[in-house]
Amino acid sequence: MKDAAVGEEAGAARYVPRRGGIPSLRRAAAGCQGCPLYQDATATVFGEGPSSARIVLVGEQPGDQEDRLGEPFVGPAGHLLRKALAEAGIDEKSTYLTNAVKHFKFSTASGGKRRIHKAPNLREMTACRPWLMAELKVIDPDVVVALGATAGKALLGTSFRVSAQRGMALPAPAWDALGVQPVQNDNGHRLVATLHPSAVLRADDREAAYAGLVSDLRVAASALRRPAR
Ligand code: URA
Ligand code: SF4
Repeated sequence: MKDAAVGEEAGAARYVPRRGGIPSLRRAAAGCQGCPLYQDATATVFGEGPSSARIVLVGEQPGDQEDRLGEPFVGPAGHLLRKALAEAGIDEKSTYLTNAVKHFKFSTASGGKRRIHKAPNLREMTACRPWLMAELKVIDPDVVVALGATAGKALLGTSFRVSAQRGMALPAPAWDALGVQPVQNDNGHRLVATLHPSAVLRADDREAAYAGLVSDLRVAASALRRPAR
């Protein structure tokens, strides 16, 4: 499908409820038409995890399996991520998993049978960002982990580069000012960027890429204000 033009008033903001927790955000996001991606995908894939989570991990967008099942990180990339979290000493139950963009973007092949992932563009990332802001405002985690370039750009703005900024505990942006550079008002929240787990799966040297992911996640674990219980 060609990208339809997004009007000036478009974007998720007008769908985001002013009050309420994650369940009410999730209910509202199910009806979001803030950009054209809702048209071809099965359903909105909202974040998952407890509102008490102190680490929020942000991916790019749901993949094929996530789109079918309606939950984030349930396919091969999610499997690898869960393994890496455990190895980094992060209890998955104390994390909240979400994506920068909440509908699956794809093109089709083999007469429409195969759905091939397409990276979301800046317009779609910007349109969807109000959901991410709302999730972060409700949860207010100590640490947000950007998994790959799309998440990094959604959180820190378009000058973000994974290769230059990964594996460090950076100041996190204010939750209602994502994408604004430079980060102002350091409030003690941290952002750690790393590779996207799908990039690990595609890497020539998968073992080295995986070890890098685990080591970056360890940085996130040690950036928690108090040790995880
Ligand atoms: N990749 C992502 O970025 N998010 C998912 O939920 C699954 C795969
Ligand atoms: Fe709304 Fe985001 Fe889906 Fe676009 S991708 S329709 S902004 S939830």
